Amino acid sequence: MSAQAQKTDKPFLSDVKTLRERARQHLESGAVGTNYAGDVKKTIQFLQEVLATEIVCTLRYTQNAIAAHGISSQGAKAEFAEHAKEEWGHAMTVAERINQLGGDPDFNPEGLLTKSAAQYAIGANLVEMIKENLVAERIAIDHYRELIRYFGDDDPGTRVMIEGILTVEEEHADDMHDLLVAHEGKPMLQR
Ligand SMILES: [Fe+2]
Ligand SMILES: [Fe+2]
Repeated sequence: MSAQAQKTDKPFLSDVKTLRERARQHLESGAVGTNYAGDVKKTIQFLQEVLATEIVCTLRYTQNAIAAHGISSQGAKAEFAEHAKEEWGHAMTVAERINQLGGDPDFNPEGLLTKSAAQYAIGANLVEMIKENLVAERIAIDHYRELIRYFGDDDPGTRVMIEGILTVEEEHADDMHDLLVAHEGKPMLQR
């Protein structure tokens, strides 16, 4: 491993840990219980965090779709652009659900990153971009799996919506993994 790779890999992994812990904190304070069914307020709060995550992912992929350069970047750029579109679709779906539940979907750019489980981390080159996206997808996947367990049978409507989004995030992670293998010739540290 080169010195540069060591330099970028380390904070990269600890950031994932911090972000995951932060995403979990709110879940734990939500204390899953049989009386959850009536806690619309808590559901809206969780969904505002999902909305923030999806907006941040839209912005990151959009940036990457424009900024990626290099002779071999065309395929990745197209993939980033497609993901950006799908993340925005997720944001819209979640915003609609918040609205249905009587909440006010929060699109305020201020505080977006404190609510988002995923980070707005922009890689310096194509491989780093792909890695950052893969990490963000994994964070979203972990977070959404926990939310699915949390909603369980108390709110099947919200749960099914998150399940649909999760499936797409899993495809995104797979796409990023394939791109990484194609551009770096090896998978990331752990899958
Ligand atoms: Fe998404
Ligand atoms: Fe995604």
